Amino acid sequence: MTTANETIERLLRHRSVRRFTDEPVGRERLELIIRSAQMASTSSNMQAYSVIAVDDPDKRCQIAEWAGGQRHVEQAPVFLVWCADLYRFGEAVRMYGGSFEPTLEYFIVSTVDAALAAQNAAVAAESLGLGIVYIGGIRNRLSDVAELLQVPPLVYPVFGMCIGVPADDPDIRPRLPLEAVLHREAYDAAGQEAYIRQYDETYRQYAAGRKGGTKQTTWSRDMEARTRYPSRRHGEVLRRQGFRFEE
Ligand SMILES: Cc1cc2nc3c(=O)[nH]c(=O)nc-3n(C[C@H](O)[C@H](O)[C@H](O)COP(=O)(O)O)c2cc1C
Repeated sequence: MTTANETIERLLRHRSVRRFTDEPVGRERLELIIRSAQMASTSSNMQAYSVIAVDDPDKRCQIAEWAGGQRHVEQAPVFLVWCADLYRFGEAVRMYGGSFEPTLEYFIVSTVDAALAAQNAAVAAESLGLGIVYIGGIRNRLSDVAELLQVPPLVYPVFGMCIGVPADDPDIRPRLPLEAVLHREAYDAAGQEAYIRQYDETYRQYAAGRKGGTKQTTWSRDMEARTRYPSRRHGEVLRRQGFRFEE
């Protein structure tokens, strides 16, 4: 039988951290984290992402507000904004007199590259005893965040990430049954409802017993509640940044 090793044990203990001590992360640890991020696999070695470390308290305060009042954005020792980035790629292409059309495919490539690098950073940070939380809330005001961080054309902020020494120890959030996400040979659509019901029960117990909360909910109920909020719309700002989706 294969047993979990240290890396897998750590992955299985992941939980988002939203309260941090004042202990600085420091340049050395941050650079180790980013070097780990840089070694993530990347489409055709394009490395089509950038990451902006935001320290300025005024900028942090503004972004925290835009992200829906997420105080950890202000308080975390490190706040990173991960961006999909085709600007650098475009510059390289131009150096050889070329040009390219930033199609939907390029949009996917750069967004995936940013996500893969960020998740490597998350794993590296956690291996150093730090905690992290992603901040998709920055997309509440994507256009404003892009302007504040002066991102050039063909770059857009995908999500933020807080990093620091955890000041609390949140519960691990249970996931769907493995069978729900691991399909064999073909997609098992017929099985999904049963897996959802199974997970709802696990989730109900988790939510009820969670530290600091006795919320009566299930996963499917939470998912339905999500759909009542209007989805963020990004077409306009992404087109302004030069991305093209017409194909
Ligand atoms: C792209 C992305 C954006 C997220 N945005 C936020 C956010 O804005 N605020 C927050 O508190 N958590 C955010 N999260 C954290 C998720 O809510 C969390 O990962 C999920 O509920 C699972 O919980 P866990 O990470 O504790 O296992 C985000 C996660 C991802 C992957």
